[in-house]
Amino acid sequence: MTDFVEYAPGRVGAEGDGPTAAIVMRAATEADVGDLARVRAARGGTVEEHLDAARSSIERLPVLRVAVADGVLVGWSGAQRFPIRSDVEPEWLVAGLTVVPELRRQGIARRLLTEVLGAVRDLEPGVAVFSVINARNLASIDLHERLGFREVDRGPQLAGVTFTGGEGVLVRQDPAVGPR
Ligand SMILES: CC(C)(COP(=O)(O)OP(=O)(O)OC[C@H]1O[C@@H](n2cnc3c(N)ncnc32)[C@H](O)[C@@H]1OP(=O)(O)O)[C@@H](O)C(=O)NCCC(=O)NCCS
Repeated sequence: MTDFVEYAPGRVGAEGDGPTAAIVMRAATEADVGDLARVRAARGGTVEEHLDAARSSIERLPVLRVAVADGVLVGWSGAQRFPIRSDVEPEWLVAGLTVVPELRRQGIARRLLTEVLGAVRDLEPGVAVFSVINARNLASIDLHERLGFREVDRGPQLAGVTFTGGEGVLVRQDPAVGPR
């Protein structure tokens, strides 16, 4: 049992001019703790169980973006510097990426991740951004590839994460590559 979505390649999302075009992307604030916990719980667990992590994300993540539809928080993603590779200074790593089930496949995650990448480059122009994904999470791998991330490593443990099913993928995006 995982929290990954069913892999259904080849569909065309609404992206930009569809019903979710009015969704607002913005930085998270302290007032978002409860709503962020609710969105996190879409991956499993109760809202209560996610409150501390939600509060901690808002306090500690230098980049944290949320998607808001009609005043309701419906997705989140962030980034922080993290010691991904030994003997290398901490590098930018995507932290979390979740969209509520009822609004998936409408381009929201793509917009969120694009916002996160832009916010990181506002802080550090030209820097590479990494993400770790379970190798079985084909939907997320496709999403990252669409935004120009490319695989740089694969293994049972990456960036402090041990993967359900045994394997994860480390992907990297350089600003020169960009989305496709
Ligand atoms: C993965 C997730 C964040 C995607 O959110 P989303 O808003 O539905 O994604 P988007 O609509 O922006 O999709 C953009 C692209 O990603 C890929 N993608 C997204 N969902 C997919 C699916 N179910 N099957 C295949 N490809 C998928 C496609 O390339 C898609 O483009 P397309 O719709 O034009 O084909 C969402 O399904 C989710 O929250 N899943 C559970 C948590 C999770 O796995 N997070 C990722 C952790 S690394």
